[in-house]
Amino acid sequence: MISRATYWAMLKWTWHQYHPMEDIVWLKQMFRQELDLRPPSLAKIGENSILIHDEAGSPIAHAALSNRWRSSEINSVVVDPNHRGRGLTHKLLEQFGGGRLFSYTRDVRLQSTLLKAGFEQRLYPGVLTLLNIGISRIAMFFWMIVTLEFRRIFHQFRHLLNYKLFIRL
Ligand SMILES: CC(C)(COP(=O)(O)OP(=O)(O)OC[C@H]1O[C@@H](n2cnc3c(N)ncnc32)[C@H](O)[C@@H]1OP(=O)(O)O)[C@@H](O)C(=O)NCCC(=O)NCCS
Repeated sequence: MISRATYWAMLKWTWHQYHPMEDIVWLKQMFRQELDLRPPSLAKIGENSILIHDEAGSPIAHAALSNRWRSSEINSVVVDPNHRGRGLTHKLLEQFGGGRLFSYTRDVRLQSTLLKAGFEQRLYPGVLTLLNIGISRIAMFFWMIVTLEFRRIFHQFRHLLNYKLFIRL
């Protein structure tokens, strides 16, 4: 078993345009498997995406930023199941730098990493941000109906009260 430091040193960092086809195929597969994430039909890799690749160049972790007026939302945080438990969420969050950032998550591992990265748990993100999130979530809800993602809708509704807000100003 190699140490975390050695493992991290082997990884490559890219913002986007690495292996576009392989990356997007992998991301869609992750979204398909993980019902807490958005539907695979909305998977995209753009200039606000962060990807980590292994030493062979295959994608193994992803996170994205969405502009929410005066804030940015960290979303779609996912680590390939074969690489979980090695602290990759720390490496993803490190890439986001400053600004007003927030994330909604019910995953205790991501919550733990957010707290260690200086985020704090809050109940309310501010009126403009809340409005922006509300519009985007309603749009996504209708998109999931159109694309027949009923299992995902049911899963997310079932856990709605477990999602917690973390903010770093
Ligand atoms: C959430 C996810 C990205 C975490 O990735 P991971 O590789 O398993 O997590 P990490 O190894 O980076 O661990 C993060 C921290 O959680 C901690 N942790 C692990 N289990 C924990 C638990 N039960 N309670 C609290 N903290 C826990 C770890 O100790 C680690 O902290 P440390 O590095 O300071 O010791 C990954 O599990 C995943 O892809 N899940 C599916 C998609 C998802 O639900 N994403 C979140 C919604 S946006």
